[in-house]
Amino acid sequence: MKTPQLRPKERRKIESFIKKFKSARQNKMELVEKVFSTIKNEFRSTLHLGGGMKATDLLKKDHKKVKSLIKKLKSASSDKMALVARIEEEIKIHSRCEEQIFYAEMKKIDSERVAEATEEHHQVDVILAELKEMTGGEGEVFDAKVTLLEENLEHHIEEEEGEMFPEAEKKLKGQLENLGSEIKYLKAELKVKGRKAA
Ligand SMILES: [Fe+2]
Ligand SMILES: [Fe+2]
Repeated sequence: MKTPQLRPKERRKIESFIKKFKSARQNKMELVEKVFSTIKNEFRSTLHLGGGMKATDLLKKDHKKVKSLIKKLKSASSDKMALVARIEEEIKIHSRCEEQIFYAEMKKIDSERVAEATEEHHQVDVILAELKEMTGGEGEVFDAKVTLLEENLEHHIEEEEGEMFPEAEKKLKGQLENLGSEIKYLKAELKVKGRKAA
């Protein structure tokens, strides 16, 4: 992939944000967001040069990460709620990227499958909300909720990786790298926003 270059005007804009960031006492995250959107707008066209990771591969990477975090939660004896918060952040960002970028394209090919998958995201959100209301000290009741979350996710991931992604590999072949780049940028942006809200 060609290395994107900033135009002088955009470079000056970012340099001034960085200068402000260094001396700012507050609103630092706002400045980070401004840098992000300047870079994103600037590189929107360069983003589509391809050569990056395919959307399906990126999403599979997220699946692996969430699965390993749940495994960690299942064997944790303390700080369970910190792990729940981490899992929630990962899942919410992942689902949003899928729906906004990947599902939006898939919908044109297989709207029924996308509708079902979106409903499954909703089900997972409901379980996550209930889990967040807990303290982690509920013993078997907490464990049962985590198992329910795990089973729902496993079923959903199996359908995505086993059916939806192979369909995308066939029918969205030429677009998967561009979609991957868009997911990467949205993900980074959502992470910054999440930290700002925390
Ligand atoms: Fe997924
Ligand atoms: Fe999904």
